[in-house]
Amino acid sequence: ANPSLLILAGDGIGPEVMAEVKKIIGWFGTRRGVTFDVSEDLVGGCAYDAHGTPLTDATMAKAQEVDAVLLGAVGGPKYDSLDFSVKPERGLLRLRKEMDLYANLRPAQCFDALADFSSLKKDVVAGLDIMIVRELTSGVYFGEPRGIFTEGNERVGINTQRYTESEIARVSRSAFELARKRNNKVCSMEKANVMESGVLWRQVVQEVHDREYPDVELSHMYADAGAMQLTRWPKQFDVIVTDNLFGDLLSDLAAMLTGSLGMLPSASLGAPMANGRPKALYEPVHGSAPDIAGQGKANPIACILSFAMALRYSFDMGEDATRVEKAVEKVLADGLRTADLMGPEGGSPVSTSAMGDAIIAALDAS
Ligand code: NAI
Ligand code: MG
Repeated sequence: ANPSLLILAGDGIGPEVMAEVKKIIGWFGTRRGVTFDVSEDLVGGCAYDAHGTPLTDATMAKAQEVDAVLLGAVGGPKYDSLDFSVKPERGLLRLRKEMDLYANLRPAQCFDALADFSSLKKDVVAGLDIMIVRELTSGVYFGEPRGIFTEGNERVGINTQRYTESEIARVSRSAFELARKRNNKVCSMEKANVMESGVLWRQVVQEVHDREYPDVELSHMYADAGAMQLTRWPKQFDVIVTDNLFGDLLSDLAAMLTGSLGMLPSASLGAPMANGRPKALYEPVHGSAPDIAGQGKANPIACILSFAMALRYSFDMGEDATRVEKAVEKVLADGLRTADLMGPEGGSPVSTSAMGDAIIAALDAS
């Protein structure tokens, strides 16, 4: 069977950047003989407009059946006053929850042509390519008890960091599987020096490693030291696996090592399906960018790189993923920039579709 994809372009610049991804999917069909069974549906504000809900049951069911979901972005000022239960982001939250996407993958990848964009020195980031795997469905954001309580004559705010062995084991498997598709190296981060959940985290990651992934190189680091090392010499890492809270901070930090929001892809993975592929949703990190929507200014690269992640991690097409990434690298090296990639000195930016066309041309030449 052909690999199947559900495209949920969403709102704002979502459909604009997704249009460029569709060109690339088309390119794989005509030039590489790889045909994806693509279906499209609504999510977010546009789904609310059509159906009164940001995600219908039918769309949810489709998402459960396909090999991978590719999402653009949701939301916009038009929907800001809606009741929380039907807000656009609820569509996204429902997808993540019902697909049980517990491993959030955020790469920090630096294209040489953009190394000047980083807040760090050029040689620290040039060629950087690391992946942070953040546990997404448990930990201190979900643990009970939680709330603001009264204790004696004052209030106390409580959250609970709680991880079960199986929650740690499954996200560490996601990280080890990724490592095998990359450079076979994982660093696990926690605070085992001061947290019981951290002690268990370190034990379970080590056990899963020794039992199932002895071929992968594993190290452990305290998360605070990890933050330091990430800014000092990030290229020492390849895959980093960490919990929900630390992953939230570390992935934002790592993302900014490399520059613009318009460049950042992501993936959220769940348990392996019957065909061995993980449940998967790929999406750019950015939102619907209402300030530039409809103007052809959006950078499509984050969404295109999200599709490249799908090629590598859902479809075992690692070489083709690299081919797409190299095409992106090529157009950037040629000096093509969407507006978000222009420095204060300015220049003449290209449009969303011109960027997509240039990437297609670079693919043709590859
Ligand atoms: P945003 O990411 O949409 O935009 C932040 C800034 O970055 C804006 O100035 C925007 O123009 C720029 N930007 C973002 N993506 C870009 C791209 N591909 N090319 C060029 N410039 C880009 O975040 P913001 O403004 O906080 O939120 C706008 C809407 O998006 C809200 O309704 C929010 O709820 C929603 N949102 C949705 C997300 C999702 O669908 N996963 C994630 C974040 C926000
Ligand atoms: Mg965050």
